[in-house]
Amino acid sequence: MWLRELKAAQSRLKWSRCPTTISTDSIEKVADEVVVCAKCRLCETRKHAVPGEGSSSARVMFVGEGPGQQEDIQGRPFVGDAGKLLTELLQSVGLRREDVYITNVVKCRPPNNRTPRKDEAAACRPYLERQLALIRPKVICPMGNSAIRALVESEESVTALHGVPFEKDSITYFPMYHPAAALYTASLKRVMEEDFQKLRGLLDSVTG
Ligand code: URA
Ligand code: SF4
Repeated sequence: MWLRELKAAQSRLKWSRCPTTISTDSIEKVADEVVVCAKCRLCETRKHAVPGEGSSSARVMFVGEGPGQQEDIQGRPFVGDAGKLLTELLQSVGLRREDVYITNVVKCRPPNNRTPRKDEAAACRPYLERQLALIRPKVICPMGNSAIRALVESEESVTALHGVPFEKDSITYFPMYHPAAALYTASLKRVMEEDFQKLRGLLDSVTG
């Protein structure tokens, strides 16, 4: 109750833009909004929206393209074949899914797993931005070209960008291949394993 009164007082005093305004946003609130969202056409064909999951104090956040069939059925990110590989790669460097945060550029499955359209990614973007602002990860890993396009101001593809960290606004970005790519092209699995080793070193260096 006091919080509502404080917010009302802040807005009466035109303090709502004051940087000390108390944020009442939360990861749970984002998820509650995502599961009923109808801001783009993908809501018409989804079974379940997939907000994301993991630790709300994660030091590293993984961003994929969008839910696939299994994710759409279960409402959880990366639980199909690509997800199994992601879980294995995490484990190979001593990380558990619960230690990291995993989400996607769009929270609803595109029909037949097509690439999300620009307007869909734009409609969904505020959710990703709120998740980033709430979790404040030290390292963000965009996985694959859709996530790279959404998060990194570069026209380069994942082939050029993967495995090389760079910093922007005090956040380290570490682009990676999408694990689904390694299911199609076996040789990429080795590359992903090496990138995860690099990520391990990066996490140790940025967070001590
Ligand atoms: N592919 C993605 O990009 N995201 C998922 O959650 C699953 C597969
Ligand atoms: Fe809403 Fe994002 Fe789902 Fe579109 S993809 S309906 S913007 S949650």
